[in-house]
Amino acid sequence: MTDVVVVGSLNMDLVARVARAPVAGETVSGESFETFPGGKGANQAVAAARLGAQVAMVGRVGRDPFGRTLVALLAAEGVDVRGVSDDGEGPTGVALIVVERDGGNRIVVVPGANGGLRPGDVEASVRAGLWEGARVLLLQLEVPGETVVRAAEIARGRGMLVLLDPAPAPPRAGGLAPEVARLLKAADAVLPNQLEAEALTGIAVPGPGAAGPAARALRSLGPRTAVVKLGGDGVFVDVEGEIWHEPALAVDVVDTTAAGDAFAGALAARLAAGDGWRRAVAYANRAAALSVTRPGAQPSMPRRHELEG
Ligand code: RIB
Repeated sequence: MTDVVVVGSLNMDLVARVARAPVAGETVSGESFETFPGGKGANQAVAAARLGAQVAMVGRVGRDPFGRTLVALLAAEGVDVRGVSDDGEGPTGVALIVVERDGGNRIVVVPGANGGLRPGDVEASVRAGLWEGARVLLLQLEVPGETVVRAAEIARGRGMLVLLDPAPAPPRAGGLAPEVARLLKAADAVLPNQLEAEALTGIAVPGPGAAGPAARALRSLGPRTAVVKLGGDGVFVDVEGEIWHEPALAVDVVDTTAAGDAFAGALAARLAAGDGWRRAVAYANRAAALSVTRPGAQPSMPRRHELEG
């Protein structure tokens, strides 16, 4: 039986650490280079699985060594990968990531096979029984919009909780794209960072004091719950008008990559286990804090004993 279904991306992350990122036209010397398994969808699946949830992943990789490695690593984490197909069209997604000494990052994603994930793949995963028993669907925006919308609508029809991490931020030229608007209507909760909150609402969120109006605006678009992630300033939460601020924990930051994924995966795991929002958000906040103390995306996801010990 499944607790959490993740429909989303798998990427191989190609990571250079630098003293500072180059500006346009500049070349800088890197301090190290490593590859890590990544992709917002797969990262969130690993985060939830390491914290005790039974997770099924629906996604696409290319028929290449990166794809095989990503699927094998995900399976080794205990994630059900029967919904991850290798389409033979296009390479596995990659992310080019530059991490500065303060742990901040800049990311370019080349979607490759992720861009081939279709609504029919999601429907096939339901027919195959991968969604049986699932209470939570976890979504991001690194696979085609129509696929994400279909997954959200299926989950709603099954009475599941739909969590949307709206990353990367959707473009907002001329207002919200119709697909994004539809998705927000089908989501129970939206989990943006500051940039994503602004992209969805047009309201800047420079800090916790300014998050209220953006959270309200997000809720007016559909979700009953808005959780705005504020990086080093913690998270601002609005659950049907019940509002609180969860401060960030003080940690030594090594690499902020996938902190939001640690948060989303942990939140999904705890909500699926029956926690209320206050408890689940506090737990997810601890998971995100621990993840930034270690390098890489999936390798940085915390395990249960680290959060509960
Ligand atoms: O959220 C971090 C992730 O974004 C990385 O793992 C990278 O693959 C991109 O999807």
